Amino acid sequence: MILLDGKKVSKERNLKLKEDIQKAVEKYKRPPKLAIILVGNNPASLSYVKGKNKACKLVGIENDMYHLDENISEKELRNLIISLNQDDTVDGILLQLPIPKHLDEDMFIDLIKREKDADGFHVINQGYLYQKKKTIYPATPKGIMTLLNTYEIDPKGMRAVVIGRSNIVGFPVARLLMDRGATITVCHSKTKDLGYHTRQANIIVAAVGKPKIVTKDMVKPGAVIIDVGVNRVDGKLIGDVDFHQLEDVASYMTPVPGGVGPMTIHSLLENTFELYMEHVKKD
Ligand SMILES: NC(=O)c1ccc[n+]([C@@H]2O[C@H](COP(=O)([O-])OP(=O)(O)OC[C@H]3O[C@@H](n4cnc5c(N)ncnc54)[C@H](OP(=O)(O)O)[C@@H]3O)[C@@H](O)[C@H]2O)c1
Repeated sequence: MILLDGKKVSKERNLKLKEDIQKAVEKYKRPPKLAIILVGNNPASLSYVKGKNKACKLVGIENDMYHLDENISEKELRNLIISLNQDDTVDGILLQLPIPKHLDEDMFIDLIKREKDADGFHVINQGYLYQKKKTIYPATPKGIMTLLNTYEIDPKGMRAVVIGRSNIVGFPVARLLMDRGATITVCHSKTKDLGYHTRQANIIVAAVGKPKIVTKDMVKPGAVIIDVGVNRVDGKLIGDVDFHQLEDVASYMTPVPGGVGPMTIHSLLENTFELYMEHVKKD
């Protein structure tokens, strides 16, 4: 089994991105800037935001952090997003999800100006994606496609089974794999006999959030396995795939941690740089 080493690939690509950013800063006389909004103190979100902040610094993206109280009102959050939308020095805005239940997540995602949507979650950007038009792609699906490209895994003609149909991972990754010529099955919580579907797959993308839901008996020998899941069990991070069981079955597989996670952060940095380039070219 060949490890799809997201940590290594993202590190190499970040070096190249850093060079591209340096060149752009010389030309356009200011660095790209990402505003990150975190509402509340969810420990996983705090750690993700810390990781994103550090990654931005490494490649030369300026970072404004807005850490808001758990009980912030809709009006206050709305005002912050509107002011960041209008701020000409800000190229990208990221609202760390999930946000507390009293706030309407979909409404706030779409309130971020689509030209500053670093996460690629805005309804219009997702519409462009589903119509195969150029846009900002959601970071995790984009990172997965970059990883497959890097290892020269061509989905063309393959059967791909995506487990999970969320707007941020499952559904867009299915779309991108289909664009690359794979034949897609999307499974979800109502799917009967998940193993029946996964056993036919050349590529499995597991984006569920249930530890070790994909086991050896569910995978055809030689399949490529992308494990998106992040589950905290007994203080350890584990994926949706039973990695040790599948080491002798899969042809390629992502580890957790060190697989999809770092590629997601890399794609966020790429997205921010893309938004910046669009922004500075207009000025
Ligand atoms: N590594 C990274 O960078 C990264 C980035 C994003 C997310 N993640 C992780 O990826 C996982 C998925 O994230 P998400 O945001 O897509 O989660 P989500 O919105 O909760 O979606 C989970 C999906 O899994 C499906 N599902 C639940 N139980 C199932 C079962 N028993 N069999 C088959 N499908 C089942 C759900 O089906 P229904 O639609 O029917 O409910 C849903 O479509 C989480 O662990 C998350 O932490 C990792």
